[in-house]
Amino acid sequence: MKFHIMTLFPDMVMNGLSESITGRAMEKGIIRIQPVNIRDFSDNKYRHVDDYTYGGGAGMLMQPEPVYRAYQSIVNGDEDISCKKKPRVLYMTPQGTRFSQKMAEELAKEEELVLLCGHYEGIDERVLEEIVTDYVSIGDFVLTGGELPAMMIIDAVSRLIPGVLGCDESALYESFYDGLLEYPQYTRPEVWHNRKVPDVLLSGHHKNIADWRYEMSLERTKERRPDLYETYVNSDSEVYKTYIKKQQKKFRKKKKNDADET
Ligand code: ADE
Repeated sequence: MKFHIMTLFPDMVMNGLSESITGRAMEKGIIRIQPVNIRDFSDNKYRHVDDYTYGGGAGMLMQPEPVYRAYQSIVNGDEDISCKKKPRVLYMTPQGTRFSQKMAEELAKEEELVLLCGHYEGIDERVLEEIVTDYVSIGDFVLTGGELPAMMIIDAVSRLIPGVLGCDESALYESFYDGLLEYPQYTRPEVWHNRKVPDVLLSGHHKNIADWRYEMSLERTKERRPDLYETYVNSDSEVYKTYIKKQQKKFRKKKKNDADET
């Protein structure tokens, strides 16, 4: 998959993404990341790309032409990594649709993406109207620029691409798979600071381990993300329906046992 990042700070983005898992994926050629420096498309000798806003107000705005030229260099194939068809262009902005795991999954199906990072007070509206296909926010807070959001999106999308994670399966069983948070995990030692790894995980009983993990996921989601929990329990999840049936059966059995004892 190819990512083209239009930015004023290509080093910031590339330094961050060249490390760890995304860095390895780049080395293996599974993902390709092409930074495009918008400043290279300035038409003045000072390489300025911003100007005052019409109508007054504080701060500077990025001008439309350098942004447009940078975009054209991508779609015309002038950059090292060429572009096959008209790509989706994601503009990083707190005014966008909130980024989510679902959006990452949808974006991972694309062959290539362009991520546009704004700075200063933003970008002239006219060029956004011409080139942007998606307005994306990473949360209800304002950052100094779009580079960190772009890096986050590239990271979240990349790890869904086969071969990027060591084992493809591990992408499935993490937080947000099926709408639940991940269960707690443990490694050696078995006892640490007087805290013991739950017995079930040492039992070797795969079915009990899977049941325990599912219950922990439910519990954790209910406690930490009641919004996700509500959505999940009201969804049509077959796994949840089976779980509830099993719980009801257990409850009836216990009630009967209690009654038999008295
Ligand atoms: N640029 C500045 N703040 C942002 C945010 N919260 N999400 C995406 N892009 C941004």
